[in-house]
Amino acid sequence: MKQYFKVDEWNIIEEGLHPEDNRIYESVMSLGNGHMGIRGNFEESYSGNSLQGTYIAGVYYPDKTKVGWWKVGYPEYYAKVINATNFIGIDLYINGEKVDLAKTKVKDFKRILNMKHGYLLRTFTIIDSKNRETKIEVKRFLSIADKEIAAISYSVTPIGHDAKVTFIPYLDGYVSNEDSNYNEKFWVEIDKWVEKYKGYLTVKTKKLNFYVSTAMKYSVIQDDKTEVDVETIEKKKYVGNKITLIAKKDKTTTLYKYISVTTNRDYPTDKIKDKALEKVENAYNKGFEKLFHEHSKAWDKLWEESDIVIEGDTKAQQGIRFNIFQLNQTYLGDDPRLNIGPKGFTGEKYGGSTYWDTEAFCFNFYLSTRGEQVAKNLLLYRYKHLEKAKENAKKLGMKGALYPMVTMTGEECHNEWEITFEEIHRNAAISYAIFNYVRYTGDKNYLADYGFEVLVETSRYWADRVTYNPRKDKYMILGVTGPNEYENNVNNNWYTNTMASWNLEYTLKVKELLETEYPEKYNKLVNKLNLTEEELNKWKDIINKMYYPYVESLDVFEQQDGYMDKELKVVEDIPKDELPLNQNWSWDRILRSCFIKQADVIQGLYFLSDRFDIETKKRNFDFYEPRTVHESSLSPCVHSVIASEIGYKDKAYELYLRTARLDLDNINKDTDDGLHITSMAGTWMAIVEGFGGMKVKNNTLSFKPFIPDNWNKYSFKILFRGHLLKITVTKKEVIIKQEKGQNFNIRVYDENYLLPKDGKVIVKLNK
Ligand code: BGC
Repeated sequence: MKQYFKVDEWNIIEEGLHPEDNRIYESVMSLGNGHMGIRGNFEESYSGNSLQGTYIAGVYYPDKTKVGWWKVGYPEYYAKVINATNFIGIDLYINGEKVDLAKTKVKDFKRILNMKHGYLLRTFTIIDSKNRETKIEVKRFLSIADKEIAAISYSVTPIGHDAKVTFIPYLDGYVSNEDSNYNEKFWVEIDKWVEKYKGYLTVKTKKLNFYVSTAMKYSVIQDDKTEVDVETIEKKKYVGNKITLIAKKDKTTTLYKYISVTTNRDYPTDKIKDKALEKVENAYNKGFEKLFHEHSKAWDKLWEESDIVIEGDTKAQQGIRFNIFQLNQTYLGDDPRLNIGPKGFTGEKYGGSTYWDTEAFCFNFYLSTRGEQVAKNLLLYRYKHLEKAKENAKKLGMKGALYPMVTMTGEECHNEWEITFEEIHRNAAISYAIFNYVRYTGDKNYLADYGFEVLVETSRYWADRVTYNPRKDKYMILGVTGPNEYENNVNNNWYTNTMASWNLEYTLKVKELLETEYPEKYNKLVNKLNLTEEELNKWKDIINKMYYPYVESLDVFEQQDGYMDKELKVVEDIPKDELPLNQNWSWDRILRSCFIKQADVIQGLYFLSDRFDIETKKRNFDFYEPRTVHESSLSPCVHSVIASEIGYKDKAYELYLRTARLDLDNINKDTDDGLHITSMAGTWMAIVEGFGGMKVKNNTLSFKPFIPDNWNKYSFKILFRGHLLKITVTKKEVIIKQEKGQNFNIRVYDENYLLPKDGKVIVKLNK
């Protein structure tokens, strides 16, 4: 396997310039702070292969849906995450020669993503046409402490010669998306202004009127002061300054560029310019070091809450840290309007921000590391979209609510019929997150205040979507796509049928709970929702008579009707150069084959873990995993959790490493498009729920840890019902320390323990 980065616990290091893989490096080196993000693009011009990307949370473009054959029910638009004003730009000329790392001679190039303090550092030496060397060092960060602020320090040191240096710091809104039709530009200029040392630009999206103001201010600091000449530049959607000076031999000249980015999502439209100017002024007055100090302190806190420490395996350590780092850069839960996009701020792919990924994969990470309120915000996000989900179901001729496959505002913005109309299992994931939240937090009020409505409407959808088959006296769900997107339009996907029925069951269970514990609220809800006995009976009938495909000879669940009619090969049979299948095989060949993109039956075993015994999990894992190509980033993590549970420790570790290093090692050969943010939370699951065996059942937190053979020790922290715990697993013992909270009971390897306030429970490691 090609090694892209040096293995290091806290840093992601690229040594030497890699023009051929530059997009991969750019994705991995992305920075973000929940409000905005940028790919690891260079400040100075680069004419080589690059995907320019600056993204602002919640700012998108509804691109008109264009398809060959319009199908009733298609959404009007596809939400594009749009490339916004480039604010990092600083063109550089040394002795009149433009620095362009695709053309300029360069040596000792290093690009380092420092995860501990959240910054990107580049160091390199350029060699001009007269063989003179000049050292460059560039450091930038997007402040986690003040989300609208970014800062760059750009230093130039000529070695053994005086150099005439020209910096052109600029803001450029003349940008487009690579995936835009006919190179369409999404922004129009509203206002701009530039003077020496300062400038700003306001642009607005052509549709939806998102206004974004970007302001910059800079200073130039020299070891040996020289005269500085400054000119202003104005172009279409562009402001800049041209700064020319002499950089003295062996002395360092640094340009500090401060940037603020404000939008009318956060302020009234007529205030964003003033706000941007005020913020950039404050940033400038604080200075680079102070801003950086505040930023890195905020990172210290985030790491304190969410770090996982692994001893004895630097590759694994780097992998998990990279995942946690990117998750925290993407979403911190402080803005309930936002959600977690599969690519975060690292690329254009997967327009729209919210997929079932949030509920199925990201939820637990945020629940355990950021706490109940953040998790609740994620649930409320969907609650607020309930009306839209009802409209969506209606549009498709169905009752109840069908949540969109992909969304920005609650409206569907995905337009491939086999997914938009058929990948309906997502509805159950949204209900499952409610169950998961209540199981973990014990917050039953949520059910009465919000959850029940979502459960009833999703249940109504399922009750309408099933088909009763009188010949078999069974309910079936026809024409679906399960989580395994390498099969479309199948009948009776086991996972979908199982989760649909579970959704109905849970709704009925919650109904009973509300009836007894919240009678007043319950009565109001019954009226509001027009809930009738007749429909409740229908739900019970569906639960009793749901059809589940099953392979008797192997005693495994059948992924869908007809799966066993396929040529049953295993992934080992596929020649290596034909992988990944989605880049090598025709689509019809993929559909006909038995190869599975991602956890499907296994996803069901994971969600409804308590319903299936270890033997059942083993049999299904043994049958399906060897046929799974894991070409969705969401696949290895779930498999890893199940592998841990059934005692397949090596397999669990192998799959863990695959999920943790998916982007660092470009395993699915698509990191150039951006990072797989949502599956990164799956990596966390693989350690905490897999290796750590963490579960919550009957209001009790339990652990069943093991340690991978090549690890000496690992530890993670979790928040649980007001308790902050640190779990450490060594080769010999499991130590559960209570860092915050009162005495409470936990279970370790199925035994009860009292975990005292400020105390520990130490249990011998079960080998
Ligand atoms: C997966 C989906 C997922 C989407 C976004 C697809 O490749 O098959 O399950 O929701 O990516 O991450």
